[in-house]
Amino acid sequence: MPDCPGEEARTPMELYEKLNSQGDTVRSLKAAKAEKAEIDSAIQLLLKLKVDYKQMTGQEYKAGCPPSENSVIPDNETAADGVIDEDNVDPWNVSTTNAKGVDYDKLIVRFGSSKIDKELVDRIEKVSGQKAHRFLRRGIFFSHRDMHQVLDAFEKQKSFYLYTGRGPSSQAMHVGHLIPFIFTKWLQDVFDIPLVIQLTDDEKYLWKDLTLEDCHRFAVENAKDIIACGFDVNKTFIFSDLDYMGASPEFYRNVVKIQKHVTFNQVKGIFGFTDSDCIGKISFPAIQAAPSFSSSFSQIFGGRKDVQCLIPCAIDQDPYFRMTRDVAPRIGYPKPALLHSTFFPALQGAQTKMSASDANSSIFLTDTPKQIKSKVNKHAFSGGKDTIEEHRKHGGNADVDVSFMYLTFFLEDDEQLEKIKQDYTSGALLTGELKKTLIETLQPIISQHQERRKQVTDEMVQQFMTPRPLNFKL
Ligand code: TYM
Repeated sequence: MPDCPGEEARTPMELYEKLNSQGDTVRSLKAAKAEKAEIDSAIQLLLKLKVDYKQMTGQEYKAGCPPSENSVIPDNETAADGVIDEDNVDPWNVSTTNAKGVDYDKLIVRFGSSKIDKELVDRIEKVSGQKAHRFLRRGIFFSHRDMHQVLDAFEKQKSFYLYTGRGPSSQAMHVGHLIPFIFTKWLQDVFDIPLVIQLTDDEKYLWKDLTLEDCHRFAVENAKDIIACGFDVNKTFIFSDLDYMGASPEFYRNVVKIQKHVTFNQVKGIFGFTDSDCIGKISFPAIQAAPSFSSSFSQIFGGRKDVQCLIPCAIDQDPYFRMTRDVAPRIGYPKPALLHSTFFPALQGAQTKMSASDANSSIFLTDTPKQIKSKVNKHAFSGGKDTIEEHRKHGGNADVDVSFMYLTFFLEDDEQLEKIKQDYTSGALLTGELKKTLIETLQPIISQHQERRKQVTDEMVQQFMTPRPLNFKL
């Protein structure tokens, strides 16, 4: 069997495009009356690609029918050691049986997104004229959809807007929740673009045992933490669904359009809803999809339907946006582009998602320096050896060490991070010393956040949350 020419296709779309071009090759060889052996070999490759496509997507290849964004490949691969690592990633669960955490490369293939490779990072640097954020340099934002398209347009002076969000399930946000907001703030600064932030208080009411009043109150409290990340009030609109749905006819019209174009079967397939889920949950994905379309914000975009949206979020939110991207062309809107981050792990290890209801599972934005020190020392899962002698002799395992993982998110200096990794792996650096560096890195970040949050007044929240024109050039 001949080898596939060029790079191996990693996503359904790449494979689909490869199939299209191989089909063209076969047709042109036939038209040119090429040697039989050459035609046969091209046909063989075409057939092999068709088999690969069926395996990857579960669908038959059909020219002119690109793979559906909602085709997710089941996670049933066996690892080299014969043990199956199960990764479970959706908006409500992020878990894996692998101590190193979720296998994000595998997730890219399953979800059909694209890897953020060096070429894309370099391009973002070139187009923005800024050094890439450490989240990009270190592969923390690791996957994307259509980012090259956004940059192509930006280079031709066609701007875009950012959309991200938070589900206000409690007053307490943890450090993991900050990741997309820190990155979104950087994107807003370097591209100088407007941003909308959705607070899904309706979602939390539907999913949790909370009153509407509580959810709305948490939305306003969470907005203070979000504002404390430093967003520009002239370019940022933060909204609670419970308030904005009733205030914006354009937003609700888009919700209804989306609802009309997604079936119960589809949302069951994407989100795993069952017959006993309340109908609010079943229709909620349309509400998270609507801000991806610029016409949902007439006060900002003056009724324009064609402004491209870019959504930074962790990969758990992708199911909402696979659905959104499937619907978009059917209702005449551009598909939103996405940038996905990995998960900031729980203190206990990369196998679980942090929980707001377990104070020891994470560092919260309200933690005191003393709490941070004690949580890291007591609970951060260590990749070090049991005794100092063994550690010095064999070295630690940074790949499973939560303190090291946290430093990759928060320590700015690349060289220092690399040296820590080398010293820990060789055994020169002990677990206690690594934890001390983490504590000294996190304490000022959290205290400074708390200081900035104290400066956020009710009037400022009101200003951010008032529907109004924003200041930008498209
Ligand atoms: P929520 O409140 O669960 O999470 C808010 C944002 O934080 C990300 N996130 C994390 N990122 C890194 N490490 C973690 N441990 C971690 N935990 C959560 C989430 O991916 C999310 O980006 N339904 C959404 C709210 C929402 C939204 C959106 C999010 C509405 N529209 C558009 C992103 C983009 C939710 O409940 O997020």
